[in-house]
Amino acid sequence: MTTFPAGFLWGASTAAYQVEGNGLNTDWWQREKLMPGMERSGDACDSYHRYHEDMRLLADAGLNSYRFSIEWARIQPEAGMTSHAELEHYRRMIDTAFRLGITPVVTLHHFTNPLWFAQEGGWMGPNAIDRFHDYVEQVIPILDGVPYVATINEPNMAAVIISAMRAMERRDKGEWQSPTVDGNSRPPLPDPEPEVGQRLVEAHEAVRDLVRGAGAKVGWTIANQALQARPGGEEKLEQLRWVREDLYLEASKGDDFTGVQSYSAQWVNADGIEAHPDSPDNTLVGTAYRPDALGLAVRHAAEYTGVPVLVTENGIAIADDARRIAYTDAALRSLADAMTDGVNVLGYLHWSLLDNYEWGHWGPTFGLVAVDRTTFRRTPKPSLAWLGDVARRGALD
Ligand code: BGC
Repeated sequence: MTTFPAGFLWGASTAAYQVEGNGLNTDWWQREKLMPGMERSGDACDSYHRYHEDMRLLADAGLNSYRFSIEWARIQPEAGMTSHAELEHYRRMIDTAFRLGITPVVTLHHFTNPLWFAQEGGWMGPNAIDRFHDYVEQVIPILDGVPYVATINEPNMAAVIISAMRAMERRDKGEWQSPTVDGNSRPPLPDPEPEVGQRLVEAHEAVRDLVRGAGAKVGWTIANQALQARPGGEEKLEQLRWVREDLYLEASKGDDFTGVQSYSAQWVNADGIEAHPDSPDNTLVGTAYRPDALGLAVRHAAEYTGVPVLVTENGIAIADDARRIAYTDAALRSLADAMTDGVNVLGYLHWSLLDNYEWGHWGPTFGLVAVDRTTFRRTPKPSLAWLGDVARRGALD
């Protein structure tokens, strides 16, 4: 029997833009309108209104934690203007979690920016750090009692998106290439530009103590590609890992936890990252079926940062839910092995609670719960009950 410690966080994650619906005032909404080939997010899962139902499903299944994000564009619809009604909305979400016995894990920024912020130049704009600091200052009072706060989700993926957008602007190429869906099967997206990464590090560090002042443990959530070297690829691995991961892990050395997000693994040879092998086992986003990636990911993060790890995302885009269960079972075993070897892991938050908007696409389904996009009816999949049962027992058979 594989067991997990008492007090372990067991839950699922979402992000505001992917589930709330009608993120009208964001740069992504604008992007969807303008980019050919992008599906619209529209009402998404209408979780803006249905968050209580979402959290109740999670709690009733036996899970004890929910990670969700705050949409900056709702809190600050214009530069310098703060919506107190929206702040209260998110406070109600936090209170709902507490009432249901759920530990909230709150992300302050998950890929989307207010449109006005993007128009000012986004993260690379001259006022970016001050703007972000101001937003976080407004949010601090509603975070009372929240134990874990992530500042920026996947800064390394955000840097890829920003770098890809810059490259697209340079090429004037209109077709949308989703970083999470197409990144592995089509021509590789560029490496994130280090100057973009540095700017995000600056933003993270600028708000770290503010968040701590609210009484929360602070970290950020880093995409981990579980890169492994083929013989002869060792040097390339170090080089790629620095621009794609370690630059961000370096900043996490000053945090209270490192958020680890893991889906698949990839090999690196002397020329670079090898494409995922063509296989019928590949997921709906074209990545290899590699549940063992999670163990590799937490080992690398913990070894690099020396701070406790929280698995803030792990999951699989797949239609067959039995496969999701098999994947998650194997991923959790690789996690437990890493813990046995001494890696300090605080919890496991599955991506995702709901089938949601996968950045330009609706096809890849990551959810423990299916959602009808017209009636918004939620239908839990067997994987939700399965994960809830593992959580209740704190063990895998
Ligand atoms: C992101 C999520 C995304 C998921 C699956 C991560 O890159 O944080 O927003 O939906 O992976 O691709």
